[in-house]
Parts: sequence; C-alpha cells; structure tokens
Amino acid sequence: MTHPDHFLLAGVMGDPVMHSRSPKLHNYWLGKYGLTGTYVPLAIKAEHLRAALRALPALGFSGCNLTIPHKEAALAIVDKVDPLARRIGAVNCIVVAADGSLAGQNHDAFGYIESVREAQPKWRADAGPIAVIGAGGGARAVLVSLIDQGAREIRLVNRTLARGKALAGELGGPITALGWGEREAALEGAAMLVNATNQGMVGEPPLDLALDALPVSALVSDIIYIPRETALLAAARERGNPTVNGLGMLLHQARPAFHAWFGIMPEVTPQLRAMIEATT
Ligand SMILES: NC(=O)c1ccc[n+]([C@@H]2O[C@H](COP(=O)([O-])OP(=O)(O)OC[C@H]3O[C@@H](n4cnc5c(N)ncnc54)[C@H](OP(=O)(O)O)[C@@H]3O)[C@@H](O)[C@H]2O)c1
Repeated sequence: MTHPDHFLLAGVMGDPVMHSRSPKLHNYWLGKYGLTGTYVPLAIKAEHLRAALRALPALGFSGCNLTIPHKEAALAIVDKVDPLARRIGAVNCIVVAADGSLAGQNHDAFGYIESVREAQPKWRADAGPIAVIGAGGGARAVLVSLIDQGAREIRLVNRTLARGKALAGELGGPITALGWGEREAALEGAAMLVNATNQGMVGEPPLDLALDALPVSALVSDIIYIPRETALLAAARERGNPTVNGLGMLLHQARPAFHAWFGIMPEVTPQLRAMIEATT
C-alpha cells in the first residue's frame, strides 16, 4: 500500500529511547518495500505520554511502538486494548484508526514464538515440561505465548516467589510457581528452558543456574539480545543443547506492527538480521 501523496510516519516512544533498534528495523523495511516515510525515536517523559499519544492522529502518524517505561501506562490511555495485550498487561504497539482513535496491541508473544520456530521449525510447546525463569514484563509475554501454543506444563521460577505466584494465578493455565531454591530441580526432564530475567544481559552478572539436570535435547532460549550469546546460551551450546537468543523476538515482534501501520507484512531476512546484529 503506497501513498505517494502522504509521507508515512511511525516511531517509538520511550525514556530513554535512543538505544532502540526499532528505527533501524522499520526504516530498513520502509526502504525495502519502496514506501515514502520514516520511523523516528520519540523521547517522551512518563507525564507526557497521554498528550504524545493523543497527538499522533493530528501529526499524521500511523502509530508507534512503546518501550520502557510506557508499556503498562498506555493500557489506560488508548481507546481500545486487544485481548492479548490485556492478558500480557502491556501495550507495545499503537495503531491510529481512520477515525483517529487509538488501538493498543502487543506483538511480543507473536515475536517470541516466531523466533523459536525460526530456530527450530519442528518445535512444539506441548513436547514436554517448560522451565521459565523470571516473572517480569518479558516473562509475561513468553508465558502467554507458551500457553496459547498449547504448553501442558510450565514451571515458573522467580527470585521473588510471591511475584511468580501472582503471575501464575493471573494467567491461569498449566503454570506452577516455584521458589529460587528449586530452579535447578525445575530443569529435570524439561523439554525447554527460557531465561526471561535480566541476568546475563550487558551490565548484569550471568544467570546463576547450573544446567546439570537439564536434558541435552532441551531447547534453551534466552530473551536477552545484548549480548547475542549470554553465558547461559554458551554453557547450553557447549553441552550440546540447541539454543535461541532474543534477537529473533525483537525482529519478529516488529512485523505485525509494520503490517498494521503500512499494510505490508515484512520479512526477517539474513541481510536484515546481519544489519541489526552489527549494532548489538
Ligand atoms: N528479545 C526481546 O524482544 C525482549 C523483550 C522483552 C524483554 N527482553 C529482555 O528481557 C530481560 C528482562 O526484561 P523485563 O522487561 O522482563 O524486566 P523486568 O520486568 O524488570 O523483570 C526482571 C526479571 O529479572 C529478575 N531478576 C532481576 N534481578 C535478578 C537477580 N539478581 N537474580 C534473579 N533474578 C533476577 C526479576 O526477578 P524479581 O521478580 O525477583 O525482581 C524479574 O523476574 C531484559 O534483558 C530485556 O532486555 C527482551
């Protein structure tokens, strides 16, 4: 869908926002599909989020992404929240409708599953128990995606057990919340391990988790993408486990947003991946 008489606009609102890879990603696709427009970083303070979002239709924006600290606050501002975003408890994409109303969506769950399938096309959520470490914002999207894909047993380990229990209660489904002391026992017989904590990302220590009890056939996934190979993924690879890093989640969550704004479902190609990897 091209609009020669209309300069296409979208962006990402955050504070801070300059670290975001989204402008590189969406501007690459705008160029690749021959669309005239741009995607900009928008440094928006929390107290200005409402005004900034409400300005999108008048400015001619098709929509925007949201990053820290706006994902939860936007739920109460937009005119419509889709059911998946409501369950995840966060909005990462705003779409401006023809009548100027704002729809809140969340594509992190889609991005997560697409990234796992890209790495392991035959992956199935119901192949066996899944151990998920972490109960923050990223974990919420991962858990919802795994439940929706038919996971039959999810062992949710979080440093703060009360937070894990609350999340298990809220999301329902086959989740059992476990304490930090049970994290290694939770790996026994697991078909998949997901790190959804911040442990292992640049500036943080590695995730404190011995993999001895994990079957070598288990898929090990880390949603961290800086560095591309965390200490957890390196340890898993060295003992023979298949691995998937967090970059695919980031790349794939952007596709339905681009589609919702500009009418084209873009592809994640090796060239795009290499371009983004060069910046991480
Ligand atoms: N690939 C992607 O597209 C994508 C998307 C979202 C997030 N992420 C990445 O995922 C990571 C987590 O992000 P988030 O937004 O979910 O963060 P968050 O909401 O702040 O949650 C942080 C999680 O890490 C746990 N944690 C923090 N310090 C810990 C420690 N010392 N030991 C054990 N657990 C600890 C927290 O446990 P408590 O509950 O006990 O505090 C919580 O479960 C970040 O690296 C982020 O970049 C990637």
